[in-house]
Amino acid sequence: MLILDGKIASAAVKATLLAQTQALTIAGKRAPHLAAILVGNNGASETYVASKVKNCEETGFESTLVRLDVDVTEKILLDKIIELNNNPSVDGILVQLPLPKHIDEAKVIETINPAKDVDGFHPANVGRLVQGLPTFIPATPYGILLMLAHFDIPTKGKNAVVIGRSNIVGRPMSILLSSNIPQGNCTVTLCHSRTKELETHCKQADIIVAALGKPEFLQANMIKKGAVVIDVGITRVNDNTKKSGFRLLGDVHFESVAPLCSWITPVPGGVGPMTIAALLKNTFQACQQRH
Ligand code: GUN
Repeated sequence: MLILDGKIASAAVKATLLAQTQALTIAGKRAPHLAAILVGNNGASETYVASKVKNCEETGFESTLVRLDVDVTEKILLDKIIELNNNPSVDGILVQLPLPKHIDEAKVIETINPAKDVDGFHPANVGRLVQGLPTFIPATPYGILLMLAHFDIPTKGKNAVVIGRSNIVGRPMSILLSSNIPQGNCTVTLCHSRTKELETHCKQADIIVAALGKPEFLQANMIKKGAVVIDVGITRVNDNTKKSGFRLLGDVHFESVAPLCSWITPVPGGVGPMTIAALLKNTFQACQQRH
């Protein structure tokens, strides 16, 4: 069993981006600029956004963090997005999800200029993804593709099972793995909460992407020997022995599943760092397209 180490693969992606950014600035152009909007103070969202901002700095990007109160009105949030859409120094905009219940998430996403939608969540960009046109690929599935590329994992003709049909991960992942692209050409089964005999589907899979958000859901009895297992889950569970008061659990029961796999991602240190690297790549792409 080999580890798909997201720290190593993301470092490689970020090193290339840093060099490309330096080349931009040496040529007298602006560095890429990402603006992130965080509404409220959800602990996990705080951590993710802080990490995005920190990684921008490490890669020579500009970043702006806009913090809005948990009970901010939808109008104020939409106005902020429009302001960033119209700001010529901003290349990429992301609104960290989830949003408080009183805010219409779809409306928020549709307000972002698709040319600055580095999350790739705008319906125009999702449509382009489905049709195989150039677009911003959502960061988590994009990060997984970059990881498969980094470790040279063959995908052509393989049976892939994606568990979870979210707009952020499962749905785009299933489309990408089935697309005619270097890390695609799989035969994809998209499983979800209403899937019958999930275990049978998983047992036939050469590649499994677990993105359902249920800690340690995937167990050894669901794995074909030699499978590649990618764990997108990252749930905080209470743990009084930790200084933070919690530990992070993936969707895969690592201890029992790992010995059966050819490759497996750890949690943390697997998909997480790749997601950030992919977001930076999208931001660089947005910047290049605007220059
Ligand atoms: N929440 C969980 N994942 C993501 C992501 O990739 N982008 C945004 N904006 N919010 C998220």
